[in-house]
Amino acid sequence: MRATTVFSLLSFFLPTAFGSLGGLPDKIYGVNLGSWLVLEPWMLPQEWLDMGGQSCSDCSTCIGTEFAFAKAYPDTVDEIFDGHWTSWFNQPDVDALKANGINTVRIPLGYWIVEALVDRATEFYPRGGLAQLRRGLQQLNAAGIVAILDHHALPGVAAVNQMFAGNCTSTPMFYTDYNYHRALIWTSVMTALSHVDPAFANVVAIEAANEPIMDASKTPGYGNFQKNFVKAVRATEFLLGIQTPGFGAMPVPTNGNFTVMLPQVNGSIFTNEVRSALLDAYPILVELGVVGLSKNRTQLVTNFMDIGWQHNNPANPADAAIGPQGYDNHLYYSFGGVANADPVSYMTSICNLKRVQKDAALGNSPLWFGEWGLPTQFNATDAFLTQWADAQKLMYSQDAGWIFWNFKIEKSKLAGDLARQWSYREGVELGYLTKDPSKYNDPNVCVPYIIPPSSSASVSASPTSASASVSAQPTASASVSASEQTTVSSASTQPSASASA
Ligand SMILES: *[C@@H]1O[C@H](CO)[C@@H](O)[C@H](O)[C@H]1NC(C)=O
Ligand SMILES: *[C@@H]1O[C@H](CO)[C@@H](O)[C@H](O)[C@H]1NC(C)=O
Ligand SMILES: *[C@@H]1O[C@H](CO)[C@@H](O)[C@H](O)[C@H]1NC(C)=O
Ligand SMILES: *[C@@H]1O[C@H](CO)[C@@H](O)[C@H](O)[C@H]1NC(C)=O
Ligand SMILES: *[C@@H]1O[C@H](CO)[C@@H](O)[C@H](O)[C@H]1NC(C)=O
Repeated sequence: MRATTVFSLLSFFLPTAFGSLGGLPDKIYGVNLGSWLVLEPWMLPQEWLDMGGQSCSDCSTCIGTEFAFAKAYPDTVDEIFDGHWTSWFNQPDVDALKANGINTVRIPLGYWIVEALVDRATEFYPRGGLAQLRRGLQQLNAAGIVAILDHHALPGVAAVNQMFAGNCTSTPMFYTDYNYHRALIWTSVMTALSHVDPAFANVVAIEAANEPIMDASKTPGYGNFQKNFVKAVRATEFLLGIQTPGFGAMPVPTNGNFTVMLPQVNGSIFTNEVRSALLDAYPILVELGVVGLSKNRTQLVTNFMDIGWQHNNPANPADAAIGPQGYDNHLYYSFGGVANADPVSYMTSICNLKRVQKDAALGNSPLWFGEWGLPTQFNATDAFLTQWADAQKLMYSQDAGWIFWNFKIEKSKLAGDLARQWSYREGVELGYLTKDPSKYNDPNVCVPYIIPPSSSASVSASPTSASASVSAQPTASASVSASEQTTVSSASTQPSASASA
């Protein structure tokens, strides 16, 4: 009977059923390929030291990022990173993903994978990543796994003092015309690669920007960039011979030369800025040998962090959509601000999560949870981590699905226990995560914690669905924080060495 109650409660919250979007699976069971093509030293502390990196609490003050590394070792950086790219993610890792039923990967990328975009006088990054990306995509494709390309580390740096931004700096300069333009060139190049290069056959989506600054007043122009991002994808597709509904007949693709074709096309996707970005992308495509028509491909899915990621009157990414689009939310409890630091508060919060419904009401559906994990602000028992994994999977599966951070974490003395709560592979081995990602250790894990809608307005109401035998009964304060969970429930920062230590 209790199971029936929960089922009806969950059904009550569910938005309309999610059908498959573009080439994405009906339900995404995914992992991030973090620290591969954008290296975050905290995830592989021993390898980083062995490579020649350093560890420091303020990552801007030592060799703590790719930028600092490439600056310090200009002559050997490419070779050393090639070794990392080859060893951190390769066929055994793909085999492990397949064995664990993973159907999707999100691949964090830096702008520097398009090497022509790097201003080598002031910017320092390794070369050679694109060949490794091609290699990895082909291995994933052979395993039947699709990929989301995630523009994770943006030109000019988009996040404050973060290893994942590529360079650790307190003055991010992404939110400027110059760097938006470089991001649009990157977008056009990645779109063309995805459609024309056979190695990119399993790329189904491109994410515009990972985790912009959460205060929208500090990201001027970002809403306009969102619109240009979608237009750059669709305009590039149009020139590659992919019909964009509502944008007229394709031009005769004389020789596939963007420079020749652009003056012949019109329509609102071809704004001056988009034309300019495509004109700048074309010589790069020629240099990469990526010319020709799309190989019988449908439109890519455009992807943004959801509207709830930012506060202070953010632009709604739904306003930018032209064609298939998906939304991404990242939810980490371990950085604070989501729930009190104890097991009952965590479970009460997650089991009453309304993110999917709130986003859907603003047009941000389908939504997937593109980063999450098992880290906590307290010492978690094995029993708790099993519940914590089940509950998050249940809630994140309500719409498009989930993508765990990360596919693996270094196992070393220096890394300590990090893998236990941050590594999907380790979580499966320890039994927190089920071998079949669509299954649960306990599908009723949320039953004791669900607050019926009628009582959510009342502070003193105790959840009626909680059985008396359950010791972990949500407290009044936990109920309040769960029901009041509004916009900024996500972590304000990515994992950092100090946060995860
Ligand atoms: C990179 O970070 C360093 C250290 O914070 C800073 O001095 C430099 O201006 C940054 N450069 C870029 C291009 O972000
Ligand atoms: C461009 O506009 C003209 C008329 O304004 C129209 O006939 C033509 O179909 C348009 N071209 C494209 C590619 O949409
Ligand atoms: C594309 O067309 C322009 C203008 O005609 C020409 O200058 C350029 O060389 C062409 N590029 C290629 C790769 O054919
Ligand atoms: C594209 O691929 C689909 C499925 O493989 C096939 O049914 C269709 O005929 C192809 N279209 C073209 C134009 O080749
Ligand atoms: C967690 O366990 C470690 C090691 O036993 C201990 O040092 C630390 O104080 C504990 N932290 C909390 C929050 O209980």
